[in-house]
Amino acid sequence: MTANNELIGRDDINDLEAILSVSNTDVNAVDHGVSATFDSVFTWDYERTRPALGKLYEKAKTSQWNVTTDLDWSTPVDQEALALNEMRREDVKFFGDGIDLAGTPFAKWTEKEWVELAIEGQNWTLSQFLHGEQGALICTARIVETVPWIDAKYYAATQVVDEARHVEVFAKYLDEKLSGHYPINAHLELLLDDILMDSRWDMTYLGMQIMVEGLALAAFGFMHQMTSEPLLKQLLRYVMSDEARHVAFGVLSLQEYYKELSDAEMKDRQEFAFEAAVRMRDRFLQQEVWDRMGVPVKDALELVMADEGRKIFQNILFSKIVPNCKKLGLLDRNQGWLRERFTELGVIEFEDWVDTGEEYTLLDEVAKDREQAAAAGA
Ligand SMILES: [Fe+2]
Ligand SMILES: [Fe+2]
Repeated sequence: MTANNELIGRDDINDLEAILSVSNTDVNAVDHGVSATFDSVFTWDYERTRPALGKLYEKAKTSQWNVTTDLDWSTPVDQEALALNEMRREDVKFFGDGIDLAGTPFAKWTEKEWVELAIEGQNWTLSQFLHGEQGALICTARIVETVPWIDAKYYAATQVVDEARHVEVFAKYLDEKLSGHYPINAHLELLLDDILMDSRWDMTYLGMQIMVEGLALAAFGFMHQMTSEPLLKQLLRYVMSDEARHVAFGVLSLQEYYKELSDAEMKDRQEFAFEAAVRMRDRFLQQEVWDRMGVPVKDALELVMADEGRKIFQNILFSKIVPNCKKLGLLDRNQGWLRERFTELGVIEFEDWVDTGEEYTLLDEVAKDREQAAAAGA
């Protein structure tokens, strides 16, 4: 059995020292190269034999939207007022009631510091979305080259355009409406590098379409529900309609491919999924924000990790990943290896939630708005 240490560089998933020992040491870099060896695959079989992917491709062609013209960029955004409003809501507190702040750096904090934390947290979160979106852009360009099926190449090409749009929309929102950028979080960067260094085409899918995008879909959904800022709400609504298709693309493709894989090959995929899940959990600890707030990072994270209320929120981020892994057979192959790991991570409870193989039709908000606009104009 492969030990945790070999997969994630530590024995205990919650080893805070080890988590913090990973940090971005090159925050001023303007680019970052990842070396990889893979085959660019031509297929001479142009027959359309995968109707589910064909349907997805048709949907993608009609549900394109335009960052510059489909969103109202004249919407004023007052980040401080929004943070203040949010803070004053009784139901949204950074730390839950069970956490005693006496004797911690937070005991002396006034409203000013909590507002600053909310603002930095938002700058950080949107910055990580931006970097993750660029990861998706690069990964799907890779899939166009490496996947051996024509239907999948067609679909992946539409996703490249979607991801360019997502990078564009988050970069524009950060520049025009928020108050600062953060460099990529080291755990996210490690994960994207791992995905891109793997030469097997299905690993790009597993890492990006199932794990990173599954988490993004849940995170966007959560933010969409929480924010009262109309431009961000609308932007997320549109990004989510694209993301639901992307995750479906992963589920539909891997479902077919995994049927042919041996136990040993599936074990590789299970380990990869586990490693990705841990990296994403680590990234959500937002260590860079504590640093910028001038709070000892380890002290802050000990409180964060002890906070049961926050755990519930963090676990929700896995609500798309776990059912999709189950649908792909990843949870239960090899005597339930991944089931055990997800139990250890505390996220197995989502296994029977809806998977994303078909959900994209329900989440197509772009199509809904178009229909409504057409009906109003008729
Ligand atoms: Fe995206
Ligand atoms: Fe995506």
